[in-house]
Amino acid sequence: MTNSKKETTNISKVHIKTFGCQMNEYDSKKIIDILRTHKNAELTSKVEEADIIILNTCSIREKAQEKVFSDLGRIKEFKKNKPELIIGVGGCVASQEGSEILRRAPFVDIVFGPQTLHKVSEMLDSRIKYNKPQIDISFPEIEKFDAMPPSTVEGPTAFVSIMEGCSKYCSFCVVPYTRGTEISRPFEDVLIEVADLADNGVKEVTLLGQNVNAYRGQLNNTTNTADLAMLIEYIHEIPGIERIRYTTSHPREMTKRIYEAYTNLPKLVSFLHLPVQSGSDRILSSMKRGYSAIEYKSIIRNLRIARSGLKISSDFIVGFPGETEIDFQKTLSLIEEIEFDTSFSFIYSPRPGTPAANIKDTIQYDEKLNRLQRLQNLINTQAKNIANSMLGTVQKVLIEGKSKLNNNELMGRTENNRVVNFVSFNNKIGDIVNIEITKVNSNTLRGKIIN
Ligand code: SAH
Ligand code: F3S
Repeated sequence: MTNSKKETTNISKVHIKTFGCQMNEYDSKKIIDILRTHKNAELTSKVEEADIIILNTCSIREKAQEKVFSDLGRIKEFKKNKPELIIGVGGCVASQEGSEILRRAPFVDIVFGPQTLHKVSEMLDSRIKYNKPQIDISFPEIEKFDAMPPSTVEGPTAFVSIMEGCSKYCSFCVVPYTRGTEISRPFEDVLIEVADLADNGVKEVTLLGQNVNAYRGQLNNTTNTADLAMLIEYIHEIPGIERIRYTTSHPREMTKRIYEAYTNLPKLVSFLHLPVQSGSDRILSSMKRGYSAIEYKSIIRNLRIARSGLKISSDFIVGFPGETEIDFQKTLSLIEEIEFDTSFSFIYSPRPGTPAANIKDTIQYDEKLNRLQRLQNLINTQAKNIANSMLGTVQKVLIEGKSKLNNNELMGRTENNRVVNFVSFNNKIGDIVNIEITKVNSNTLRGKIIN
């Protein structure tokens, strides 16, 4: 079956399944853009009518990785009835496993990594020309950015990738190995893309990367570089752009210039995702995060001096090898002190090839689960308190579409990403409106327009 002959790249319908993070969501959109541009293909949500099925995979935790192979098992059945069906595996599992994917799943046609997704179209051609599966999981520097077709605009919000990869090498994390080291996109290229998005009606941009506050974009073809603060400053001046977000950033890369951006640049939202992982210095050191709990708290204090009311969300790992109940208590204390908005928390998952995978793990699974639940209860209570404290306040809301529950209503998001449903006859998608919060539901808010 692996060598079944295909005469043409007749791929009018693409089905893509995305695993994991925002970066992958972004990459999936790019893959579709490429196939639309080069192959005239269109996206389909129906897997059975697809000519090409792509899994854009994630290997950050074990569960995500195992799902890929069980999905491939199911997709194999489609190929039995439709031998010309093309199957592609991209993303971090592809990057990490490479030819192992073809060994475990020989019916796969193309395997590409996060840094070679721009080659998908060529790889499809080669698959046919040479009549054998194609693999490219290399890291060809900045080439990926240059080879991308223009983004398709869908609504008033857009992601803009400003850098790739990560050079922090936290002891538990696969990202530096699967996505490569940090590479920033040139400053002018980012500005041109944002200006173009603004011309097409985008009001809010999210600057995207594994470590965006480590951004050092080349300036005007010189050896000088621009940092994230400078990039935000320039984007702030682009007509039409009303809101600026960025994710993810690292505590070690927080600078005075970024604090100043919070004081001087009102379009920068009052919300920041800043992963802390743990509140115990012993564990932070073993994780190689490069800061202590006090340093993290001091960063948050400075940020909140620069911008009062700044909401912070975070990522937490529980059950890191060697984490004692006392270490875990320190994480809970840090959470109590900082008060986080809706955050992400995970049980530690040993990742092959990372230094932490060699540390002996002596914590029972039940104990890890128990810690996760205690941590999530605390975070959920805090997030709920933040929602309750918004009752009666006036929030700036960017209208994103119709309300999911009621087609006669509109929905938008506050700066801290809360969904607000409300009635309006005079506003349209893309407007930023002042809304008084009148009700707090479990997952959403209700409000009314204030003139
Ligand atoms: N660039 C981000 C993290 C990207 S990975 C940063 O600044 O930290 C997203 C999150 O997944 C991490 O913040 C971490 O909480 C979690 N994660 C990464 N590797 C993990 C592992 N091996 N086990 C459990 N959670 C992990
Ligand atoms: Fe991973 Fe640490 Fe980078 S969590 S993405 S190695 S900052």
